[in-house]
Amino acid sequence: MQKETIEKTILFVKQKLEKDGTGHDWLHINRVHKNAKKIATKENGDLFVIELGALLHDIQDWKFSKSKQTLEGAQIAYDWLISLNVPSNICDQVKHIVENISFKGANVENKINSLEGKIVQDADRLDAMGAIGIARTFAYGGFKQRPIYSPNIKPQIHNSFEEYKKQDGTAVNHFYEKLLLLKDKMNTETGKLLAEKRHDFMNLYLDQFFDEVK
Ligand code: ADP
Ligand code: NI
Repeated sequence: MQKETIEKTILFVKQKLEKDGTGHDWLHINRVHKNAKKIATKENGDLFVIELGALLHDIQDWKFSKSKQTLEGAQIAYDWLISLNVPSNICDQVKHIVENISFKGANVENKINSLEGKIVQDADRLDAMGAIGIARTFAYGGFKQRPIYSPNIKPQIHNSFEEYKKQDGTAVNHFYEKLLLLKDKMNTETGKLLAEKRHDFMNLYLDQFFDEVK
């Protein structure tokens, strides 16, 4: 039953995100799914909840919805699992993950409260870092028609999700507003370890970037 639910969910997510060009494509989900399973081998947690949370976490990202509410994707994930007759306590746990996984600003409290959620969030954050994280950031910036870089637009530290939502900065600023902060915000010891190399690589990239900008 669990295996069949995972397989059906993979098909559901694949079909919804296959054509995405913003860095939230099926292969992002696939990497988060794999990394979440990898972290879970060290940190434990309920693997069924972890896998479903990873697979459904970007089913309707707030960044691309009209409502800009994280509850919308969470409700889609919940309704999908209910339609597969998944027990409601599992559906609730996955809904919590999808609702709370997103980064919401440097100084905004992280509301993820389960071990399973912490693991999926770490896996999602790993994919925001390193070489892939850099590629995704410029892909998203292009999608939003934002500048790559501007010496006149400074990074901001966001104190609320509302402020973070309204931002209209550059792709390079996103490194300072989120990506470089992730290393110290990882939830699990395994996540922290995996984040180190990716963090260092982003710094190396930015050193070269600013060297060339000069
Ligand atoms: P989260 O839900 O935590 O934002 P996602 O899986 O939705 O995580 O992916 C977020 C990724 O989208 C970022 O790591 C980055 O690559 C890209 N992104 C999001 N906001 C911006 C932005 N303002 N500028 C550039 N890239 C962004
Ligand atoms: Ni994601």
